[in-house]
Amino acid sequence: MTAISEIKGRRVWDSRGHPTVEVDVRLENGVLGRAIAPAGASRGAREAIDLRDGGTALGGKDVQSALANVNGPIANALKGLNSTDQTGVDAAILALDLSPLKETLGGNATVATSLAVLHSAGADAKKPLWRHVADHYGTAPALPLPEIQIFGGGAHAGRRVDIQDFMIMVPGAASFEEVMEVTNEIYFAAGDIMAQKGKLAGVADEGGWWPVFDSNEEALETLVSAIEKAGETPGERVVISLDIAASEFGKSGKYNLALENRDMDSGDLIDMLGGWIDAYPIASIEDPLGEDDPEGMIEFTRRFGNRVQIIGDDYLVTNAHLVEEAATAGACNAVLVKVNQAGTVTESIDTFKAARARNWGAIVSARSGETEDASISHLSTGLGGGQLKVGSFTRSERMVKWNECLRIQEALGSDKYVAGLPLANTWWGAKQKEKQ
Ligand code: PGA
Ligand code: ZN
Repeated sequence: MTAISEIKGRRVWDSRGHPTVEVDVRLENGVLGRAIAPAGASRGAREAIDLRDGGTALGGKDVQSALANVNGPIANALKGLNSTDQTGVDAAILALDLSPLKETLGGNATVATSLAVLHSAGADAKKPLWRHVADHYGTAPALPLPEIQIFGGGAHAGRRVDIQDFMIMVPGAASFEEVMEVTNEIYFAAGDIMAQKGKLAGVADEGGWWPVFDSNEEALETLVSAIEKAGETPGERVVISLDIAASEFGKSGKYNLALENRDMDSGDLIDMLGGWIDAYPIASIEDPLGEDDPEGMIEFTRRFGNRVQIIGDDYLVTNAHLVEEAATAGACNAVLVKVNQAGTVTESIDTFKAARARNWGAIVSARSGETEDASISHLSTGLGGGQLKVGSFTRSERMVKWNECLRIQEALGSDKYVAGLPLANTWWGAKQKEKQ
């Protein structure tokens, strides 16, 4: 229990080359905690906003005003506070910003500070962050089941396909290491197939292949071929996971698939996705309907909630209150937890806990703009029972998160891995039960 003595914000640069906020929290005994704010590109309308300076320099994305908030009012309010009192520290930050979306201080300023305080308390207790999180929040640590992108799309690949993330999960793997091996095989099999067909245009924002497909379904077909080329039977050890990010191509229940030049209403989109669930081994779908389409989300969950995991990202923006509301209404059965959507550690963990209390899945997630900060690997492991989404299987801002999990596994033991557990309530889980 050591007091915070100094807080310093500095400008660093993220994986897209944009400025972002790094914060150092120094304790009275000299211990240091450090964290960096990530940045999204397909952002929910109700998430904490990043404070950017605007103007012409650096594309208007400089963060000098956010840094001034860290070095001024936030530092003043936090100096002298107990670093292990994360709830108290986050409450002090929130007291400085009563706006709904943290537009006064900036979510980038608050999230980097809040996470840096968490790091300082872990370091002060001489514990790795995942252990500090588990001890502090009374959770059982376990390595998460990864969701890993193979192709990028949507806002992460010049909208070359409408769907944003084509991912795999390997719920049948016995260890985290095995997930990494299977992913390597499938990622490169997909690249080979695409290169052969002239469908490969590079690498998208999160490290997945940048595709040149003629339809969204061609992406699904190619993903199935890649899984097979890697020697796997789709739907056995490996399943497909999609982030539709429907708010990016729809408003008020009207959607437009630009690639196929197709206008749809909620019902059409639900039918199309339902057709995909019937035809492909899809076990998880994120944001299948837009953030402003609760009727659609409730109908989708009614029809498919007992077969697939349905994750709210833009739809729930890491907000415990919205999770409660959605659970009561019957929308979604899992939540994406992005610390910078909420803006503080406390609000993010409240969201995680609200989801788990409803027996929902909880997927701790990176943003498309990332850095060498690996806090989320520790958060998802420390909180336990979860899943982790960090993008693809190339580029160091992604690999740093997977690699950190491998280091954590050495300390934790490979038996503390949740494997397929988070998908127990899907068709994949039902199939495992039948086999027993
Ligand atoms: P973003 O999107 O980080 O670009 O906002 C990621 C996601 O939708 O999961
Ligand atoms: Zn998403």
